[in-house]
Amino acid sequence: MKRLFTKRRGKRNEAVEQQTSQKLSPSLAFQSFMQMNEQATIGWIVYQLADGMDINKKEELFLQSFSLHSIDNITDEKMKELYQLAQLGLGWITNHDVIEEEIKKLDYPKPFRDVLLRTLNEVHASKTLTEMDKEKDQVWEVYRDVIYSATQGAFLLIDKAKIKQYKTGNLLCEADIKERQDISYSRNLAKEAFTNAGLKNSKVMSYNLIISEAVTNVIKHADDGKMFIHQKDDVFHVIIEDNGPGFPLNILPKTTLLAGFSTKESLGQGFSLMIKMAEQVILETSSNGSTLILLLDGKGEIG
Ligand SMILES: Nc1ncnc2c1ncn2[C@@H]1O[C@H](COP(=O)(O)OP(=O)(O)O)[C@@H](O)[C@H]1O
Ligand SMILES: [Mg+2]
Repeated sequence: MKRLFTKRRGKRNEAVEQQTSQKLSPSLAFQSFMQMNEQATIGWIVYQLADGMDINKKEELFLQSFSLHSIDNITDEKMKELYQLAQLGLGWITNHDVIEEEIKKLDYPKPFRDVLLRTLNEVHASKTLTEMDKEKDQVWEVYRDVIYSATQGAFLLIDKAKIKQYKTGNLLCEADIKERQDISYSRNLAKEAFTNAGLKNSKVMSYNLIISEAVTNVIKHADDGKMFIHQKDDVFHVIIEDNGPGFPLNILPKTTLLAGFSTKESLGQGFSLMIKMAEQVILETSSNGSTLILLLDGKGEIG
């Protein structure tokens, strides 16, 4: 029987064979994306190992991973062993085993163990990143739901794709936000737009106050930005975008919900006021910047 290396006996054999009894999935009829992903990963590991051993037909080996019914069907013992190793390694990663420790238990020559370690570490790193992304998404979703419930629907976190649905209706005005004097400029522009739309003075005053808070936040906590005011029927959509660093995710509930909380020497009242006076406060935020949308109700107030 041909083997990867002639010196191959004992414990390692059993370990490889015991842990790889699991069947590979049937043919190209993938049952799920996850399954295809796993097959591709195994194929990739086998490819890297074959590459490290100067085996020809590496590409074929990779492609074979998608159409294998079972490792047992592989007749070439050398290839079979590569597949078994790939499955074994993937198992260690899934079980959160220490890869180095597991590889030590195998009595392959050092250069081959090094290739195996490097390959598995690469798979591990990519999996860890995906898991971290997943965790971040989950935290974001929990925050979104908690903030929404705690404010009785007055504060909504959205992702980037949803912004455009608020950029609708009649564009009443727009302004650049770059320096301090742009705060009063945008405030006056908003005032004019509301007044021209026929909004009552008392509403104009209170809406101006929160627009001022939002625009000030761009100067204070972000870099530059822009303000747009749209009118859709009797709702005003005030959109304030910035190119700042975004709201830090781990303290998002505090920055948005806790009156008096600020990350700067500041009153920390901006969001409390916005939530009180707007019909809804909507926020999209990432390390590329933030978009704050204030939905301001003009129902019965426009005349
Ligand atoms: N445009 C923004 N970009 C990044 N972080 C922001 C932005 N606006 C507000 N924040 C964060 O939210 C916190 C609360 O804002 P706010 O209630 O207006 O209080 P204050 O501006 O007085 O700190 C800020 O301290 C800051 O950490
Ligand atoms: Mg503020």
